[in-house]
Amino acid sequence: PVPVILDCDPGVDDALAIVLAAADPAIDLLAITTVAGNVGLDKTTRNARRVCDLAGITGVPVAAGCDRPLAQDPHISDHTHGESGLGPLTVGEPETPLAGEHAVDLIHRLLGESETPVTIIAVGPLTNIATLFRRYPGDRSRVARVVIMGGSTERGNAMPYAEFNTYADPEAADEVLRSGVPTVWHGLNVTYQALATPDIIESIAALGTPLADACVQLMTYYAESYRTVWRVPHPPVHDAVAVAYVIDESLIECAHTALRVELRGEHTRGATVADLLGRTDWEPNAHVGVTLDAARFWPLLVSAIRTLGA
Ligand code: BDR
Ligand code: CA
Repeated sequence: PVPVILDCDPGVDDALAIVLAAADPAIDLLAITTVAGNVGLDKTTRNARRVCDLAGITGVPVAAGCDRPLAQDPHISDHTHGESGLGPLTVGEPETPLAGEHAVDLIHRLLGESETPVTIIAVGPLTNIATLFRRYPGDRSRVARVVIMGGSTERGNAMPYAEFNTYADPEAADEVLRSGVPTVWHGLNVTYQALATPDIIESIAALGTPLADACVQLMTYYAESYRTVWRVPHPPVHDAVAVAYVIDESLIECAHTALRVELRGEHTRGATVADLLGRTDWEPNAHVGVTLDAARFWPLLVSAIRTLGA
């Protein structure tokens, strides 16, 4: 299995990403680290621990990381994920323990302990990963690659052109992109190919376990948010797509392309600019997801919920 650290800001789709990363035998999940994003750090951390409770994930450390972006005020997304960040689920004090270390120090330690380079899957704002590379520049050679849910080759969501994770910390996204560590960016253009339609939600409900029931509650809430806030009939499970790519790369066709993060645009700050048509003289510097095989993606997620629910 691929050694993986999952950095996230749960968030409904982050919760599904945690379940997939913990369940699938292709991944050896070394840690779950949290960052401020969809909601504040105290909530994203509590939610990650709560998801571990619900899914029976034990032995995977959960550590809290950066509580604000590198260079701007926090921007949250509770209109999509609910005030708690986990939609309708009641979130009391979790049983899963909180690691004593800061997420960035935990990642540093785990990278040092791993015999092979570690894949970081980052599905929230990139603050923790940029901070890791600032604080421990030597760690860049210990990271196999950073697989990111972030950006878009098309338009945005948080802003007309900027996707939420890159908009929430553009400097961090830019620093990770330019770090020299290989990066793969699965943006809205590809995650919008993973739409949780009613038949999929029904197939999860049919599993009949408490975890499946919690996932159905989350996805039903999320579907309603997407209908009202984002005006699309079915919700995309963005973050699970990045995890699925690490499990099976053949699920997503990628382009090796030139990518930039817009840091100054008066109306476009936080947008990613992918030169898919080769209009610039920029060298290719990143891989960008283009096409998802949704028919093979969904069984992975459903099977993960089945495995952990058993
Ligand atoms: C991203 O923003 C968050 O709201 C989701 O969890 C996902 O990581 C989608 O733009
Ligand atoms: Ca997220």
